[in-house]
Amino acid sequence: MEKMRVSFLGAGAWGSTMGIMLSREGHDVRLWEIDTARVKKLKHKRRLPGILPGARIPSQLHYTSDIEEALAGADLLALAVPCQALRATLRRLPRGYEPPRMVVSLIKGLERRTGFRPSQVWAGFFPRRPATVLSGPSIAIEVLNGHPTALVAAGDDREGVKSVQKVFSINNLRVYRSDDAVGVELGGALKNVIAIACGIAEGLGAGTNTRAALLSRGLAEITRLGERLGANPRTFAGLAGWGDLITTVWNPASRNHRVGLGLARGKKLEAILAEIGMVAEGVETCRIANKLGKMHEVQMPITEATYRVLVRNADPRKEITRLLSRSLKEEVW
Ligand SMILES: NC(=O)c1ccc[n+]([C@@H]2O[C@H](COP(=O)([O-])OP(=O)(O)OC[C@H]3O[C@@H](n4cnc5c(N)ncnc54)[C@H](O)[C@@H]3O)[C@@H](O)[C@H]2O)c1
Repeated sequence: MEKMRVSFLGAGAWGSTMGIMLSREGHDVRLWEIDTARVKKLKHKRRLPGILPGARIPSQLHYTSDIEEALAGADLLALAVPCQALRATLRRLPRGYEPPRMVVSLIKGLERRTGFRPSQVWAGFFPRRPATVLSGPSIAIEVLNGHPTALVAAGDDREGVKSVQKVFSINNLRVYRSDDAVGVELGGALKNVIAIACGIAEGLGAGTNTRAALLSRGLAEITRLGERLGANPRTFAGLAGWGDLITTVWNPASRNHRVGLGLARGKKLEAILAEIGMVAEGVETCRIANKLGKMHEVQMPITEATYRVLVRNADPRKEITRLLSRSLKEEVW
């Protein structure tokens, strides 16, 4: 494949991982990092301890906190900042900035103020250059360590999706295509809420029955909201839905799962997030999903219970009792 220059906005676990993957293919990768002290450390130590344990960052990966330098001459732009930072990051782009033909969003979340998906936030700035969404079950360090990983690239622009599929189908990565960006983005965002719920249950000593119930019924409410917002319900049975949900719940290092565990053990949210030290998108997504559910009259009992524990300091045991004592209904509705 033709060698490209690839620019990343965001140089955390995921931006750096995908940057390393592409640089191993011979692409010229530049990453923008807002934190200048971190850039210095990265340049000097070539490691991200606590974020990508044991990983060595190749010397050809160029980190900078100068956004113009990061973007110069890019053939592909990848968005990899936390969802709540995306709008402010795009406001930093130089005046008159022309994005490259290929833009890909790696972000999983929903914007707090608007409820927008990351690709919608992007479209507000560059409506004529749609971003392809790349999502699916992908724990950064596993990708770096060569574990086979399947992702899905989605968007309305078929050619853009195909190009992203081709660029990222490298080594241990296999990328599928989808025309359902709404479903793929919502799956990636909403699974984090159910991961928090499962973490809470696990922290309370729940067995596999309880966790399986939360996963299955959690996916049911993700699908209900997704369909209401225009997604194809089948998308949620795929990599960006079920696949990503299982990964987040299985992996003990998953940040959103750790948030739930911490809450069940009586820790304060701020303390849990400080301990994790990286973005846990599910926290904000939970607030938004709860609001969207109400706005669109979609029943989302697990999301609502998680919201009450997370935001209103409700007792998680009482919330579980409440979930069990709801009116009886058909499974598929
Ligand atoms: N880590 C993974 O395994 C993984 C996998 C798939 C998708 N994602 C998604 O990728 C996105 C980024 O996650 P991550 O794991 O790299 O997070 P991270 O916390 O490791 O890094 C986030 C990056 O954004 C920067 N940042 C933080 N606040 C900022 C702000 N206000 N303005 C500009 N930049 C800011 C950080 O300095 C860092 O470079 C998230 O939406 C996440 O859900 C992560």
